[in-house]
Order: sequence, then C-alpha cells, then structure tokens
Amino acid sequence: MSAKPVVLKLGGSVITRKEKPLTPNVPAMKRLAREISRAAVSRLVLIHGGGSFGHPLAKQYNLKKGYRDASQLLGFSKTHQAMVTLNKMVVDALIQRNIPAVGLQPSSCMVTKSGRIRLMEDKPLKKLLESGFVPVLYGDTVLDLDLGFSILSGDQLAAHLAVLLNASRVIMGIDEDGLYSSDPKVDSSARLISHATLRELKNMQRAFKSAKTPDVTGGMLGKITELTPAVERGVSALIVNAAKANNVYKALKGEGVVGTLIEKE
Ligand code: IPE
Repeated sequence: MSAKPVVLKLGGSVITRKEKPLTPNVPAMKRLAREISRAAVSRLVLIHGGGSFGHPLAKQYNLKKGYRDASQLLGFSKTHQAMVTLNKMVVDALIQRNIPAVGLQPSSCMVTKSGRIRLMEDKPLKKLLESGFVPVLYGDTVLDLDLGFSILSGDQLAAHLAVLLNASRVIMGIDEDGLYSSDPKVDSSARLISHATLRELKNMQRAFKSAKTPDVTGGMLGKITELTPAVERGVSALIVNAAKANNVYKALKGEGVVGTLIEKE
C-alpha cells in the first residue's frame, strides 16, 4: 500500500504581501517551493490561502455571507480570478523546482451548504495523487446550496481533504510560530504551546470563550475548530511558521520543529 498523503496549507499571509492588494511574496514562494522539493514527500497535497489576492476583494463585494444582489456576481468573478492568478504563481514556482504540480479549482469540483463543503467530485484529485502529481488547491469562491455562493477557506479545505484522503498529517504553515496560551502581541507572558491533545485544546477553547476574547490567539481558534474533526480521526495537525526558513521542510520531513503539534491523545 502506498504511503498516506500529507496535506500542507500555506497561509495567504506567507505567500502574499498582506498589506498590499494583489501583491505576491515571490521570494517566500520560491523558498517554499525549494523546501517542498528538498523534502521530496511521496504523496503531497498543497493548499494555499488568499492573503491580499482573496480577502480584500471578497470583503469589498461582501461575498462570505452569500448572494445579496447581482452586483456581487462580478465580485465573485474577480475574487475567483485573483485566486486563479495566485494559484498559477504558486504552481509555476513549484514547477520551476521540478515538482509535478497541477492546480485544481475548488469552485469547479466543490459546492458548499451554508459555508461548509457539501459536495465534492474527488476523482480527479485522487487520481492526480495516485499518479504522482502534487495537486495544488486554494481558498476559493464557491457556489453554495443555501447562500447562492460563499467563500471556502483554505483551512476548511485542508482539514476536509486530510479526512477524505486519510492523511497522516496536516501541516498549517502560517506567519506565527504556532498556538499561544494568550495573544503574544499584548501579553508578554504568552507561551507557545508545543504539543496539545484534543482534550487540552477543548479546555482552552472553553477558557477563551468564557473570557469573552474568542480571538485572543489571532484567529487561531477558528483554525483549531477546523482541524478538530481531522485530529479526531487520527490525523495529526502541526502548525508552524512558514515565514521562517526550513520550518516547512522540517515539518514535511517529520523532523523536530518549533510549532504546535495537535494529536488525538
Ligand atoms: C481565502 O482563503 C480565499 C478567499 C478569500 C477567496 P484562506 O482563508 O485560506 O486564506 P488565508 O490563508 O487566510 O489568507
């Protein structure tokens, strides 16, 4: 039997310049392509976020909550097209490093219901992976059974594919070192959590919620909520800082790396 696949998500804030609309971070893309190539994982699925390609347009046209009026259709097209452009850049960087990467449009093979993935034509993805390709998907505008359309985040996609493909590991490459006990930007006693079980995470989530500061860890709780069903099924989740050199390489190789490892128990 062939090895279980690894799912790697590269956050939009790593591969784009967050503060500048439609601006890629080309050096970061090239470095990450090099790290992925060096790691030579036998079965890899890559997902990337939107950063300054996806979010400003999605916000401008208020796409996340779904269809309100016909003027949003153009916004859907523009946001999707910006993601296609970013995907091409990521795939180009990988091909430059001789990785057989193939971009796959989530909007062409998935439909959500109230923002959650409901339908997926998964044969092309599975066949690509079996054949030795590296499929590259991304957070995208998608059609939604209840809302008309919505935004599918790369985080939801990564966790969904990790379960679908029975991955050994899902790696989330972000622009912070991992999950902290509180927000390191405002709390100097914040401590990086290097390892957590699901039970510990749930306790933390409860504590954060009762403290009425749901976003204390910089939006990290949402990420953990997405990852939980995958971890429950035995996929280990690793959050690492992909903006720092060699972390993604080490994470892919299974070497020790600064970050947060989440395991079932
Ligand atoms: C967002 O994907 C995609 C769009 C806005 C179209 P993500 O939510 O995964 O992007 P990042 O990683 O947070 O930038």
